[in-house]
Amino acid sequence: MQVQIRGLRKSFRTVRFDAANNSVVLIEQRLLPHRFELISTRNYRETAAAIRDMVVRGAGAIGATAAYGLAQGALAFRGENRRLFKRHLSKVFGELMNARPTAVDPLNAMLEVQAAMVFGKTVEQKQSLALAAAEEFADENVQHCREIGRHGMRLIPHGCTVLTHCNAGWLAFVDIGSATAPLYAAQAAGRKFLVLCDETRPRCQGASLTAWELAQQGVPHKVIVDNAAGHLMQRGKIDLVIVGADRVLGRTGDVANKIGTYTKAVLAHRHRIPFYVAIPLSTIDWKLSSGLAIPIEERDEAEVLGAWGVASGRRRTYVRTANPSSSALNPAFDVTPAELITGIITPVGIIRPKDLWRRRAELGASGDK
Ligand code: MRU
Repeated sequence: MQVQIRGLRKSFRTVRFDAANNSVVLIEQRLLPHRFELISTRNYRETAAAIRDMVVRGAGAIGATAAYGLAQGALAFRGENRRLFKRHLSKVFGELMNARPTAVDPLNAMLEVQAAMVFGKTVEQKQSLALAAAEEFADENVQHCREIGRHGMRLIPHGCTVLTHCNAGWLAFVDIGSATAPLYAAQAAGRKFLVLCDETRPRCQGASLTAWELAQQGVPHKVIVDNAAGHLMQRGKIDLVIVGADRVLGRTGDVANKIGTYTKAVLAHRHRIPFYVAIPLSTIDWKLSSGLAIPIEERDEAEVLGAWGVASGRRRTYVRTANPSSSALNPAFDVTPAELITGIITPVGIIRPKDLWRRRAELGASGDK
């Protein structure tokens, strides 16, 4: 997407690969919206740390980062021995995989890279196939988001108000975003609408990232506290909800997404407000058969007990907001059951969650997924 930096508008992808330096180039998302900076990881370990520490975050973006990280690890291998190469790759795979557990995109992305390498006979051939497959995953992610926009824009009539949660915008993907794709497509078609961004405690991706993105693209929006949605729904001030997802179960239609999504889905159901989930195909998990089996990441309690911010013109600071002697629970994701979801906006169309399995061939499920 285009970003205005020091008066100039420039195009960026959230994640890209610098082949000359064998590094992954990322937008440092922890500094947004206050500073726009790029960072380069020098090896796969730094790439895994960037995922774990949320320099880069959002299912699609960490998927592409993991794919590039695997290629980066492959390219760093020296020698011709294929057995040692394989052993090295499984270490790289494991480290990238363990960086964050809930989103399935990193696993799906790395499986694609791994599958592409099978066709190489030598280490060198496998290395270049790995990078080509990672690039393909990233390009496909952008294409999927574009298609989500094409299918989803019909849900955004002129004058409507849309609620979204967390950040499922271009910063959470390689470009465009999933939940934001229908918004950008509707905007391009000249429709006027309002977006309400849930603040999304504890890390405030809605207030800091989604609001920043929408401001950059000139989309009218307001930030609301996480607890305001029920009140606004009751007063008829929200017409529909669109969120992203970190993992959608192809067998059941259950959706794991940022903590608080389930609450919004229950509220939307209570008020008969349509609730949509927008995803590229790499977010579908064709294996698990129960939402309760999705691993839910537990993060540091410091995220709940305080907040990050910038005091006018000063450095980013953490302030403790909770009672000093209290501890916290910090589950980062929750699972919304299929029956609360009106439709899944996919690159192939809008599908009822319970129909995902029946349409699995069209949605790219293969024997090994
Ligand atoms: O913890 P994060 O910021 O990586 O969480 C991911 C998300 O931004 C949301 O869950 C999002 O709605 C999913 S869309 C990629």
